[in-house]
Amino acid sequence: MSAKIIDGAQIAADLRADVAKDVEKIKAKGVQPTLAVILVGNDPASQSYVKGKTNALHEVGMNDRTFRLPETTTQDELLKLIKELNADKLVNGILVQLPLPKQIDPDTVIETISPEKDVDGFHPVNVGKLLLGHDTFIPCTPHGVIHLLKRTGIETSGAKVVIVGRSNIVGKPLSVLMMNKDVNATVTVCHSGTKNLPEVTREADILVAAMGKPQFIKADMIKKGAVVIDVGVNRIDDSSKKSGFRLVGDVDFEPACEIASAITPVPKGVGPMTIAMLVANTLVAAKRQNGLE
Ligand code: GUN
Repeated sequence: MSAKIIDGAQIAADLRADVAKDVEKIKAKGVQPTLAVILVGNDPASQSYVKGKTNALHEVGMNDRTFRLPETTTQDELLKLIKELNADKLVNGILVQLPLPKQIDPDTVIETISPEKDVDGFHPVNVGKLLLGHDTFIPCTPHGVIHLLKRTGIETSGAKVVIVGRSNIVGKPLSVLMMNKDVNATVTVCHSGTKNLPEVTREADILVAAMGKPQFIKADMIKKGAVVIDVGVNRIDDSSKKSGFRLVGDVDFEPACEIASAITPVPKGVGPMTIAMLVANTLVAAKRQNGLE
């Protein structure tokens, strides 16, 4: 079997086009949606993600206020900037790119962002709302995964979903979204303490790889005909590339294609969805803050 390749780039482009139409409408009402993006340090992957995010904002007609701060930035300096942006009525959303340099505590940073401007959906108030099923900002990557499944017409109700990875950004919120009534899946979350991992992953109708280990999920860990969602983005050395690296996911892609019925590639799978959901969340923030919902 050769798996259907789920075209995340196209599905994300469709979503951005929908957002762009709504941006036009609220601009006509005098609102200019604006996202503050803060990047601390020189991590090349983070720089590349931030560029992707600002490009998408511009494409849909939004403004960005990007702050590139040095690696040596103190926590107090960063918190001061966030507080200024919380108070700035022209800024609808605030995103601090993770990871942060080691002198800065990410939890303190996230808790300082106003929950109303937390378009990443990482603030404890928004995480709590997500768990309770209340209206909130849904973290972009898990939201993107759900959207991909829906747009691809993959049946989730009653499906056995296995998520490998328990991060606050992906695994945990995705497990909550998957068990919501509108998705209605039965969810298992695996992690480094899981015994007999391949036995568990082979049970999955939908297998989500989100542990950040290049090509870790092998073909023999996948049930025949399963849907495989690869959230991993890993740089591995490749001297044939000008950059000296190439991107691979957490799934060993080519052999997995022979077993799965559908699979997301890396790149152009989940990655573009994360960014599309960020602009969608920024639109929601701008509407809410201006009484347009
Ligand atoms: N680093 C990796 N993924 C993300 C994300 O979704 N948001 C932020 N702010 N940082 C990240």
